[in-house]
Amino acid sequence: MARNIDGTEISRVMRAEMAQQVAELQAAGVTPGLSVVLVGNNPASQAYVASKTRACETLGMKGQTLNLPEDVSKEELFAVIDRLNSDATVHGILVQLPLPAHLPYKAVLEHIHPDKDVDGFHPQNAGLAFVGDPRAFIPCTPAGILEMLRRENIPTRGKHVVIVGRSLIVSKPLASLLMAPGPDATVTITHRHTPDLAAFTRQADILIVAVGKQNLITADMVKPGVVVIDVGQNRVPDASSARGFKMVGDVDFDAVSQVAEAITPVPGGVGPMTITMLLANTLQAARARVT
Ligand code: GUN
Repeated sequence: MARNIDGTEISRVMRAEMAQQVAELQAAGVTPGLSVVLVGNNPASQAYVASKTRACETLGMKGQTLNLPEDVSKEELFAVIDRLNSDATVHGILVQLPLPAHLPYKAVLEHIHPDKDVDGFHPQNAGLAFVGDPRAFIPCTPAGILEMLRRENIPTRGKHVVIVGRSLIVSKPLASLLMAPGPDATVTITHRHTPDLAAFTRQADILIVAVGKQNLITADMVKPGVVVIDVGQNRVPDASSARGFKMVGDVDFDAVSQVAEAITPVPGGVGPMTITMLLANTLQAARARVT
């Protein structure tokens, strides 16, 4: 039976470490501030954004959400970002994705000042991260996964990491980080056009799944002793829950737990780590302003 990798507990420890650093910055007259821009009223996005700003506040940072209407124009959104770019009390800016289809998300992400881009999605930060420059903001989910592996003493050197998914938010930066000196992993990326996905996933020493499809990974698709990191966040109907739904990942958790050595649950695995690394990036942005 697989060991559970408890992202909530790792986050608790990390956030306690960070609260100390926030207190030190406050003593120097700086309260780290994060502004989250949310366009529209997608319930999942609203929930994610609320947990991001709440986490800021429990650490003594300033978290604010700017909620813009679904039909906001590109010009109006750019004006909001301009204002945040020039506001000295705002150290980090995050525009929650996905955006409505009429907004060009790449141009929106490029409009955020790279020094405040705590998501690490601006091409300047993506480029710095790709060349291994420590000034880069590393995207929060990949950074959280690396931190989780490190703190759980799961070695990556020489291991075969198979990633399912090819997103800008998770898989591409994750592959680049894992193959870099330090982690030293051998990385394979697979995606929706990969024929015979199972032939790849069965080779994984560490399997990372970031697709958004319930039960994509079944027990017959993994080898015994694998470490499974499930990045999926899928809402499925659940009459027994007061909310009417529950969250599940991309992995058939119960069946794969019988085969794996360690596995991240959903919820309580990667999700809290993503928010923790967002706090860390906001702290990094604030610290850069005082040093
Ligand atoms: N939507 C899902 N994950 C993320 C994230 O890490 N950052 C932003 N901005 N939007 C997201």
